[in-house]
Amino acid sequence: MRKALTIGVPLLALAGFAAAQQAPQPAPADVMATYRPFAAPPGERTRADVPWPAPAIATGALPAPIPGIGRGATSAEIAGWDIAVRGDGHNLPPGGGTAKQGEELFITHCAACHGDFGEGLDRWPALMGGRDSLRSDQPRRTVGSFWQHAPGVFDYIRRAMPYPAPQSLTNDEYYALTAYVLFINEIVGEEDVMDRDSLARVQMPNRDGFVLEARPDTPNAACMMNCRQGRPVGVTMDSRQFAQPGSDSGTSEPQ
Ligand code: HEC
Repeated sequence: MRKALTIGVPLLALAGFAAAQQAPQPAPADVMATYRPFAAPPGERTRADVPWPAPAIATGALPAPIPGIGRGATSAEIAGWDIAVRGDGHNLPPGGGTAKQGEELFITHCAACHGDFGEGLDRWPALMGGRDSLRSDQPRRTVGSFWQHAPGVFDYIRRAMPYPAPQSLTNDEYYALTAYVLFINEIVGEEDVMDRDSLARVQMPNRDGFVLEARPDTPNAACMMNCRQGRPVGVTMDSRQFAQPGSDSGTSEPQ
């Protein structure tokens, strides 16, 4: 740690010097061209086709560019990023679906890795089972055994799955898939509609398995002002001792 700090100081000093030497870059003639989204290949389903959240593809009325930096985000663009669903269901989108509807979707989009019933193929993660195993010497963490809140399952699946194409399905499809994953864990019934209200009411088996630790925060008395206290500042190390320029050593470890 001490070493990293002493290396960091001269590097920072160097970076500052380099920045001071550079004149401000002139803005390109058509700043907007730099930030215009790529056109999607014809006929291909893209994230932009998903009804909610709707990432804004240039609507024409975009905030004024800030030369050299970009432009402010539109409210539609911010809405596209603002997909976090809270454990209590806050920010769940409209829509809904049942496990029955989700089964076919799961087989199409998920079973190749997770198995038809979420049992997990090869080394892909299992999504079911493991109930009451967490205290054993073979804990199996799955949605059924570990996850605390059902809205979080929806959030995760929509945000990250299917693994090769996250956020590529509709909200109804994500609700149906969430219902299916809960169903294979015997948490909801096959015909139970999962939507923004019912999902928040689902009681996950491990909901009481998380505790807030009452440990104090680590003391952090990092000096932010007048830290030199009169001591001189000098270069204590030179990065050339780690790799000879042109030596092709390919390592940053001390030689
Ligand atoms: C190509 C393989 C693949 C496909 C297809 C896939 N997943 Fe996954 N899934 C993964 C991997 C890998 C992880 C673990 C990712 C990680 O931990 O970062 C994961 C994690 C998950 C988890 C969290 C498991 C846990 O307990 O941490 C859920 C839930 C899930 N996937 C659901 C789905 C659903 C629903 C679909 C279909 C829409 C799907 N997955 C499609 C590979 C896949």
